[in-house]
Amino acid sequence: VRPTSNAGSYEIPAGVFAETVTSVQHYTDRLFKIRITRPASFRFRSGEFVMIGLPNAEKPVFRAYSIASPSWDEEIEFYSIKVPGGPLTEHLQKIVPGDTLLMRKKPTGTLVLDALVPGKRLYMFSTGTGIAPFASLVRDPETYDKFEEVILTHTCRDADELQYGMDLVRECREDPLVGEFAGDRLKHYATCTRETYPFMGRITDLMASGKLFTDLGLPPLSPETDRGMICGSMEMLKDTRAALEGFGLEEGANNRPSTFVVERAFVG
Ligand code: A2P
Repeated sequence: VRPTSNAGSYEIPAGVFAETVTSVQHYTDRLFKIRITRPASFRFRSGEFVMIGLPNAEKPVFRAYSIASPSWDEEIEFYSIKVPGGPLTEHLQKIVPGDTLLMRKKPTGTLVLDALVPGKRLYMFSTGTGIAPFASLVRDPETYDKFEEVILTHTCRDADELQYGMDLVRECREDPLVGEFAGDRLKHYATCTRETYPFMGRITDLMASGKLFTDLGLPPLSPETDRGMICGSMEMLKDTRAALEGFGLEEGANNRPSTFVVERAFVG
């Protein structure tokens, strides 16, 4: 039992960590980032997700959230959308530093480096809060040990929704540890679909037209050299999966590594 502003004398359920919120940043009226303390015993692989909840009910609502911080970080970061009437996000969006966040002890997920066979380039395709697992992976030196080039694509409706990714990539390049690895090898390709912006369109259309590759100065995807990870809405996953299959890539899993892996961006 920990006496914090939102937990009171709430009894922490078994199998759950009760951590303290260290910072909260709101990006738009729909998007925000939370950072919490990291339990000393908590281990995860960059790209995995975990269930989180709030200590406000007898049976707290837990939702899957990708861990957005890398596995070496002292804190744990989450990037969330605010779903109107969402049983967790309705309350989560009001969280402030010093509050308690519950986190189940077992992380899992398919967007991990071990699920991909070796390759030259790693493409990370994301829409909306689907960037979260990649925020973890682009900050992990192991990603750059395994791939010569890392391409993070992020597509949102409006330009202000791209801010989290912009800050992430800038901080990553400036970071004394990660910057040395990421340097020019991390490429960021950000597009908007509903607002005028230098780069526009759905990533699936940009792959189909070849514009993504001309803009990056890279050849089209090839199963010989390229690996993919996809995270977004169900529809985005379906269409991006089909696009990658069209280039000859094949979906893998933790127990069967291949040339791309997929995970849905969770909301709720
Ligand atoms: P669009 O504006 O054309 O729908 P959302 O907020 O709905 O999850 O969308 C986030 C971004 O993902 C938007 O830019 C949206 O484009 C894009 N998107 C939505 N569905 C797909 C899809 N099936 N394939 C690729 N991109 C998609």
